[in-house]
Amino acid sequence: MEWGMANRLAQLIPADGRCVFMPIDHGYFQGPTRNLEQPGKTLEPIMPYADGVFVTRGVLRAVIDPVKSKPIILRVSGGTSMVGADLANECITTDIEEVIRLNASAMGISVFIGTAYEKESLLNLSKLVNEGEKYGIPVMAVTAVGKELNKRDARYLALSTRICAELGARIVKTYWCENFEKVVKGCPVPVVMAGGPQSETEMEVFNFIHDGIQKGAIGVNLGRNVWQNDHPVAMIKAIRAVVHDNATPQKAQKIYDAAKNEK
Ligand code: 5RP
Repeated sequence: MEWGMANRLAQLIPADGRCVFMPIDHGYFQGPTRNLEQPGKTLEPIMPYADGVFVTRGVLRAVIDPVKSKPIILRVSGGTSMVGADLANECITTDIEEVIRLNASAMGISVFIGTAYEKESLLNLSKLVNEGEKYGIPVMAVTAVGKELNKRDARYLALSTRICAELGARIVKTYWCENFEKVVKGCPVPVVMAGGPQSETEMEVFNFIHDGIQKGAIGVNLGRNVWQNDHPVAMIKAIRAVVHDNATPQKAQKIYDAAKNEK
């Protein structure tokens, strides 16, 4: 691997090989999502505990201080919305020159496998990888399931993650599912897990992250279950312990309970 590519990946993935990415990109198709109405305010207290931030160029420029930033994964796909005809009909929204100008450590793009726009989104991924590889910028592929959350099973997610890796993604973001080892084993590049909509209890989140990490995921790219929680800092501290220190879900709950009572 060339120096620039290796260096950018190392910015995002610390020496232990594990990572906690903080996505605040949801507004690019959802608008002002709950607790992300003012993304700068949401991000400020939790950013110190994140290894990278997943964000669009608009929010990056508007609310993240370039002097205090964590490494950036720039969301570069979009062009659709929750109220539009089809969420899967995305394009690449951001030129590679802009990615370089913003000094992003990686680019993120969604693919929509099994939808009417499967081919377009996979070709978007391929084009982005072609551009990224020229400049040593890794691509994180996001296996999007759109509104159809029932697609979150090992067969579908293993298929999707593998295709993303085959097309050149350096990291693949997917969802945790039962039999998650099938997803990780079939994907020759590192896998990170998203959280999806807020879970009912913190313990559910700690359980699936712990299971996924033990089965080979390198970390998380997990937003709503942190910043929609009543205690986002406590939540990210507990998640960090599961990812970076192999804490059990029970230990994570203790960390959460202790941290939520801090100032
Ligand atoms: C939204 C995304 C998010 O980055 C991803 O879904 C992770 O966030 P969450 O844990 O809230 O699902 O790709 O488009």
